[in-house]
Amino acid sequence: MSDTILEKNKGCDCAKNGKNSCTMSRRQFLLASGATTFTVMVTMNAGTPQAKEVPAMVATYPRKFIAKLSELKQDEPVDFNYPDEDSFSESLLVKLGQESGGGVGPIKDVVAFNYTCTHQGGPLQETYKAETKSLGPCPLHLSTYDLTRHGILISGQAYQSLPQILLEVDGDDVYAVGVFGLIYGRYDNLKG
Ligand code: FES
Repeated sequence: MSDTILEKNKGCDCAKNGKNSCTMSRRQFLLASGATTFTVMVTMNAGTPQAKEVPAMVATYPRKFIAKLSELKQDEPVDFNYPDEDSFSESLLVKLGQESGGGVGPIKDVVAFNYTCTHQGGPLQETYKAETKSLGPCPLHLSTYDLTRHGILISGQAYQSLPQILLEVDGDDVYAVGVFGLIYGRYDNLKG
């Protein structure tokens, strides 16, 4: 997520710094927005005489505590639900033991993914393979996903990567803060 300009910037030093608008870091943005909606100003008809700024409501992902970094054991997945409690939101967090795409922690080896196969919604629970750092094969049509490379498909019928849960570390705490990719069966990850 790129830096975001917020309409209201309570607690920010922008005014003191002589700036007219507030640019927040991704972390500040997530902490400020919580699990609700917020307002951003977007420019309509940019570059034309009709250009004007209008408010837009944006839904944000919840920030959910998942696990203590120090308590994770390599190749032992931790199950959780995200971004809601729906069965298609079941996910795993796993310390792979090698640097991986989207990984967090000291060697960027802690990743998280949704458990629902992107092909036709098959259940991938309990299919993690430590030897190959993969999830699968799916019990329906054998799709298998590489967890070291953003959940890209290794083999099988699916044609989309597994949705990756975006993580953030705060001290020893690991939080889920978003989803990269669409969860199977949804047109909007936040509307189960
Ligand atoms: S539902 Fe998983 S491969 Fe078809």
